[in-house]
Amino acid sequence: MFKARIIGTGSTTPKRILTNTDLENIVDTSDEWITRRTGIKERRISQKGKGEKAFDLAADASLKALEMAGMGPDEPDLIILGTITPDRQFPSVACMVQDKINAVNANAFDVSAGCSGFLYALSIAENAIATGGSEKALVIGAELLSSVANWEDRSTCVLLGDGAGAVVLGRSDKDEGILSSHLGSDGRYWKLLYSEEGTPDPPKILEAFEGKPYYLAMEGNKLFKKAVKHLADVAMEALRHNNLSGSDVRLVVPHQANIRIIEALADRISLPMEKVYTNIHKYGNTSSASIPIALDEANREGMLRPGDIVLLVTFGAGLTWGASVVRWSLDIR
Ligand code: UT7
Repeated sequence: MFKARIIGTGSTTPKRILTNTDLENIVDTSDEWITRRTGIKERRISQKGKGEKAFDLAADASLKALEMAGMGPDEPDLIILGTITPDRQFPSVACMVQDKINAVNANAFDVSAGCSGFLYALSIAENAIATGGSEKALVIGAELLSSVANWEDRSTCVLLGDGAGAVVLGRSDKDEGILSSHLGSDGRYWKLLYSEEGTPDPPKILEAFEGKPYYLAMEGNKLFKKAVKHLADVAMEALRHNNLSGSDVRLVVPHQANIRIIEALADRISLPMEKVYTNIHKYGNTSSASIPIALDEANREGMLRPGDIVLLVTFGAGLTWGASVVRWSLDIR
């Protein structure tokens, strides 16, 4: 059995910034409420005709990750992409990325697991590398959540943003890289967060945005409690599995859904917020893209050194959740 190690990270977000103040002109809300209840200050929104579809963002993030890995696009043998906002019903966004970056030697497919899509994809790629089915894999999370926002629902449209992040995995025979992944789901609660048919009118301020024929519906309060419980439980399960405690962790990179959820997670696993990476203030909730974007930013900011224990942890629609423990082995300094 081999280990899968992260040898490159990359991310990208659309140019257009939508601030909380902009949202005050769309729904009955305020910068004060959004900041206090969610931690979000602004988010990035894809615009039509600007080359910012999910596959464009995913391709750009992938090329950055490949460049860091010192790998050509023809080297990955596997591309797995997590998304709930694919550009088309089919083919997969992963195949469109394969075409755009010319990754001619890969098998490519998407994974739909709500906001847990990236960690589900990472776990599949990790297993493929561990068992010898893959040597070099590209794992991506890419979303245009703005395209499924209901711009008349202030309790959801203020949360959502767009972006993509990617990691390149390589094979290792040392005790490094992804030490273990832990996934869970509970379909009994799918109605807490789901897509509803319909196309709410986009606000004038966003006349050039990318819309889809369905929108996101959510029972925020109930979901909040489930999120905190499952994030904390799966994080503890992952640490215990590796005989680690919170004090061994250098950095937690959680799904960025709400700063209060992240703070509650940190509290439950007894970690100070200094050990938790957050960028929700800049991007809002980008679903499957949030962890790979945050991981790439932490990496490029020089926060990670070889040997550091990094805990990735997520929760989302499905319900789904997951955690991966990584012994970091990439040094970009
Ligand atoms: O990524 C997948 C996982 N995502 C999650 O788990 C999301 C979990 N849920 C949440 O993050 C939070 O529940 C929300 C951010 C969605 C909502 O925050 P909350 O603190 O739970 O607010 P609430 O739904 O309890 O609403 C409190 C009040 C209500 O007014 P009343 O009934 O008390 O008069 C809402 O109508 O806040 C009102 N409200 C707003 N006010 C201003 C809801 N949204 C807004 C808004 N601006 N945008």
